[in-house]
This record gives sequence, structure tokens and C-alpha cells, in this order.
Amino acid sequence: MSTLTFWKPGTTAPGSSLDRDSQNEGNIVSSAPSYAALSVNAQRERLPIFKHRQKILHCLEQYAVTIVVGQTGCGKTTQIPQYLFESGWAAEGKVIACTQPRRIAATSVAGRVATEVGTILGEEVGYTIRFEDVSDKEKTRILYMTDGMLFRETLIDPLLTRYSVIMIDEAHERSVYTDLLLGVLKKIRRKRPSLRLIVSSATLDAASFLNFFTSGSESSNEATIVSLEGRMHPVEIAYLKEPTTDYVRAAAVTACQIHSQHGPGDVLIFLTGREEIDLCIEHIGELSAGRTRSAQQLVPLPLHAGLTSEEQLSVFETNSDGARKIIVSTNIAEASVTIDGVKFVIDCGFVKIRTYNPTTALASLAVVPISTASATQRAGRAGRTAPGVCYRLYTLSAFEGLVSTITPEIARTDLTVPILQLKALGIDDLMKFEWVTAPPAEAVLRGLEGLFAGGMINEEGGMTVMGEQVAECPVDLSVARMLFKSKELRCGDEVLTIAAMTAVQDIFVIPDGAPGALAELERRKFTASEGDHLTLLNAFNAFLRHGRSSAWCRSHALSFRAMSRGVSIRSQLKKYMERFKLPLESCEGDAKRLRQCLVSGYWRNGARWMPDGSYQSIRDNTVMHVHPTSVLFTRKPQSGWVIFHEVEETKKTQIKIITEIEPDWLLEYGLLYASKH
Ligand code: CDP
Ligand code: MG
Repeated sequence: MSTLTFWKPGTTAPGSSLDRDSQNEGNIVSSAPSYAALSVNAQRERLPIFKHRQKILHCLEQYAVTIVVGQTGCGKTTQIPQYLFESGWAAEGKVIACTQPRRIAATSVAGRVATEVGTILGEEVGYTIRFEDVSDKEKTRILYMTDGMLFRETLIDPLLTRYSVIMIDEAHERSVYTDLLLGVLKKIRRKRPSLRLIVSSATLDAASFLNFFTSGSESSNEATIVSLEGRMHPVEIAYLKEPTTDYVRAAAVTACQIHSQHGPGDVLIFLTGREEIDLCIEHIGELSAGRTRSAQQLVPLPLHAGLTSEEQLSVFETNSDGARKIIVSTNIAEASVTIDGVKFVIDCGFVKIRTYNPTTALASLAVVPISTASATQRAGRAGRTAPGVCYRLYTLSAFEGLVSTITPEIARTDLTVPILQLKALGIDDLMKFEWVTAPPAEAVLRGLEGLFAGGMINEEGGMTVMGEQVAECPVDLSVARMLFKSKELRCGDEVLTIAAMTAVQDIFVIPDGAPGALAELERRKFTASEGDHLTLLNAFNAFLRHGRSSAWCRSHALSFRAMSRGVSIRSQLKKYMERFKLPLESCEGDAKRLRQCLVSGYWRNGARWMPDGSYQSIRDNTVMHVHPTSVLFTRKPQSGWVIFHEVEETKKTQIKIITEIEPDWLLEYGLLYASKH
């Protein structure tokens, strides 16, 4: 794949591929003033939203709910909370909240806004995401948070009394907690009319939000729409002439083609996940190595949720030496974050989403084709500051076959935990709840079944004591249940560590320059024959024994950041254990008892080894494969049975974080155990 041929519908010579009028391009870039060089205030005033400031503030006074629609990058997320702050909405200790469906958006935007406000992050401006609270109960006035965290807060403070305004940002993404929040907020508004809501959306589905809030309301001042028209530059679209089977490599090749054929402008590549991003950056490195023809440097930068806040920030920095940035990103850059200077977009046409199969009750991460709405949104990222080009790594006919919008997450997710949380909020009749989009009845039923089987609700549908407590825990139902069962199985200390470590991604890494095989050898030092959960436990304990040293992590192919996160999550989950009076007893090396406790959590995720090396799920015989990162990847479990933490759907269905078990434990510690207690 040395070169790729694109063609642009509407351009005269299909196939003439990447050539364009580069003279023109050069002009545009040089005529654009350097945005980053302006003072913070001047930058703020240049944003398209600025001229709508008064209008937005006026609507907020007049209407209960203001729906704001505007192009991505026009300033909704960073500016609206500041406008509110400046005009007194955070007086008398009140807080302005702005929710985000993604953690990385909440953290990066909070950082930016803290700089604009001129405060230290965590003081006037802060953020709260799961397991990470960088805010101050007294000082914080603008709080960015994930939608899941605000929803959880309603369990503690049902009227969300500390907030004067709540902005539900990126509402068009229709994440499950955004939908649940909209429903709950409509209810809260009736009891606390002083609460103001802003719903912001990048696409034009504002009317459905307006209908949602005005239905059943007698007031004519209930909701309004503010449209922030923003100037967008034209974006040319180029399609692949022939489909590709390897879009990761195709993305790297296209980026290098752009680099050698085009004038200045950064490149933004959309891929589906961290592994693809790392691989693509590797390809770009190989392809550009030895190319001295172009004097301009190429700087590939990853952008995904697994990065530290500092690493994330590097994509926003401007290169003074004129180097060309190639930002290789997940869907995060589609709407949640805006990077200035992008003129070329490369779109792989896929996205990784959480899906749920109500028939099998298995939740998984799956890579699926994007919608045309997403494709348009991604292309638009090239036209923010100047005309741009979007290279789609798929054919025009593939584009024409895409769905127009993706189903809201509520209709394709495991509802077990959301239902438990709604019940904890006192919303028992799920049919009466005001859904923006009602979930399929089958998913609701499955959720209720799961809760009953797990001992969270009783036969009448009422909450059990465990159910009430689990609803508050910021972990999956299976992990929560495992924590609660650790009391009887006397292994709270170890289960707490395992619960924390399963919440961390990418613990084992390949250190720079080291061959992969070496990393593999290092990892074997922690390997527990029982499987991945105990391997994680070993790695965690060794990390503590070696004084949490980063040098030690480096020499053992462990990610220091991930391990430190594990320590921090553990101490936060420990507070829940203390609150619920769950003892931190050690199993004293009794791996059997510990694994039995794992089964009491993961009993729904059981699988059986098949002679061809695959596994069959116990629920519905789905064929599954072991993820290559598992210590059981190359080994058959002696008993032939395992439980797993999660499923990932790429080209095949893979199970991750696996532990060998005895099959009769599934009955003893799984279902039967649940109904006994
Ligand atoms: O929310 P919306 O998409 O309307 O825009 P925004 O996220 O508020 O971004 C407004 C401007 O702030 C854009 O020009 C971004 O490039 C800039 N920004 C930044 O420089 N650094 C960040 N961490 C976030 C935003
Ligand atoms: Mg935004």
C-alpha cells in the first residue's frame, strides 16, 4: 500500500486524488492570524459564540430550559459556564455544572477554562469524573463532570440543590446518562423551578429536546432554542476509489501523502481505539523515516482516554517551528474537543461503542460503521479555521450505505445498573419515567431479572439492603456484588484490590525501545496460574512492596500511571467498604476462596473451553475467544471453565480479564447463592 487513490465527487477529474490548488491553500494559512498568540480575552472574544453572549444570558433569565445549538468549536463548552459565572449565577455558594459524556472531555475542558478564568484547576474551576475529583467543595464555582457522576449525585441530593444552572453538554451524543439526566432533571425542575437548564448540542436535533421539555408543561416560558450560527469553511470530501481492508495503515499512508503533497495545516485522523492509534503512529514513523525531502517535521500525537491530562494537552499546543501535527484520535475529537489548525481530516469510517445484546445479556465494546451524521461532523473538523479536505477511507457507495444516525445508547445498553439507580431514586414505575427515548422492553426486563438474580431487588421489585448500597457504588454490578460477598468469603482485602485494578486499563506496557518479547517475559513474573484477576493482584502487591517506584515499573513492563491509578481507585473504593461495614480481611493466600468470591460477582459471565481453543458462553453458547493480553491466551484451563470481566467485539468476540473456576461454583456462588441471600 504505497499510495492510495481518492476521488472527489464534484471535482472534475476523479482519480486525480490528493492534488489540489496548493497555491490557494498557502494564502489561506498565511492570512489567518495566529489565534494562539492572542491574549486570553481576545481569544475568547473571537469565538463565534461571543456575539450571542447577551442573548444566551437573556434566555436563561426568561426560560427554564435553554437549548443551544451550534457548530463544534464555536465555544459552547468553554464559554457558556464562564458567561454564567461572570453574570452572577454562581453567587451565594451556588455551582454551575456542565456535564460531558466523556471523561477526557471533562478534564481537558476544565483545564482550559481554569486557564481562561485565571485560576488553579480544582479551585474556582474543577472537574469530577469517576475516581477522580479535582474540585473544592467550598471554592469551586464551575464544575465540569461526567454525566454519570451528576446522575449519581442525585442519589445523595435528589434535588441537586447546590447547582443554580446545569448544562447538559453534547446532548446530541445521547449517552445513556445524558438521557437519564434529562428525564430526572425534568422531574427535578417541577419541584425546584429555580433550577435552570441548558442543553447543548452540536447537531440540529434541537426540536426533539424542545418537545421533550415542553410536553406536559403549561408554561410558555418552559423552553427555547438558541441557534448560534457559525461560519464554516468549505470542506472537500475525497473517497477511496477501492475499499481498504486495513484502514489503520491506509490512514498512515494518507497522512504521509498529505504531508508530501500539501501546504501547511495539521492532520486529524479518526480511528477507533488506543491499539489502532499506537499502530498507526508506528506506521507513520516507518513511512516517514528516511524521508528528508520535506523539510517540515511530522509530529504524530495520540488522543484517547488512556492519556494523562498533560499528554492530552500536548495536542492543543501550537508548534512554533512550523512542524505538522498529525493527531491520531478516537471519536473524542469528533465533537467533544476542538483542536485548532486542523485542515485535513482522515476518517476511517468506524467507531467503537458499547453495545448490549438483551437476548444474551452480554455487554461488549464493538467496532461499528459510523452514521452519516458522524461522517459529516468528522469532515467538519477540517473546516474550522480555513477551507479543508476530508479523506474518507471508504468508498462513496459505502458512505451511501451508512445509517443516518446511531441509535441512542439507552436503546442498546445493559440497563441493570441504570434501573437500579432509578429505583434508588424512588422511580419504581419505569413505564411512567419520562424517557427521551424509551428503552426496549426486553432490555428493561433483562435488567430487572439481573437485579433479582443478583439479590438487588426482591420479588415485588423493591430494593434490598444490598441493592440500595450497590446503587451508590461507582462500579459495575458484578464488581459491586463481589465486594459485598467478600464479607462472607473473608477476602475483602484482595477483592478490593482486584476491583480497583479491573477499573484500570493497560497495566502491562511495552517500554520504549524494548522488544515485545521482553515485556512478555517480565509479565510472566506476576502471572498467576489461576488467571488474570490474580495476576493483577500480584502486580499490585509487588508495586506496593517496591515502594511504588516508577523505575521499578519501567523495568517490569508495567505502566506506572496505571498502577498509581489502581492505588488511588483502591483507596476510594475502600471508603465505600468502610461505609457499608465490609471488613478488609485477607484470604491469606487461599486462592480458592478468592476465586469463589469472584464467581459470586461474575456469575453471569461464565464460559466453557472448547476443543478448538475458543470458549462458549454459558448463557447462550456464543463463541468467544481469549484476548491476547490474557495469561490464559495460550493455555487451556484445567477445569475447562472460566469467568471473565468483559467482552470486546472487534473482528471476533474476545473476552478480557479471565480466571479459571470450578463449574459447580457457578451454582453454589452464583445464582443459587444469590437467591439464598
Ligand atoms: O463546545 P464547542 O465545541 O462549541 O467549543 P469549545 O470546546 O468551547 O471550544 C472553543 C475554543 O476553545 C476552540 O477554538 C478550541 O480550540 C479552544 N480550546 C482550547 O484551545 N483548548 C482546550 N483544551 C479546549 C478548547
Ligand atoms: Mg463542546
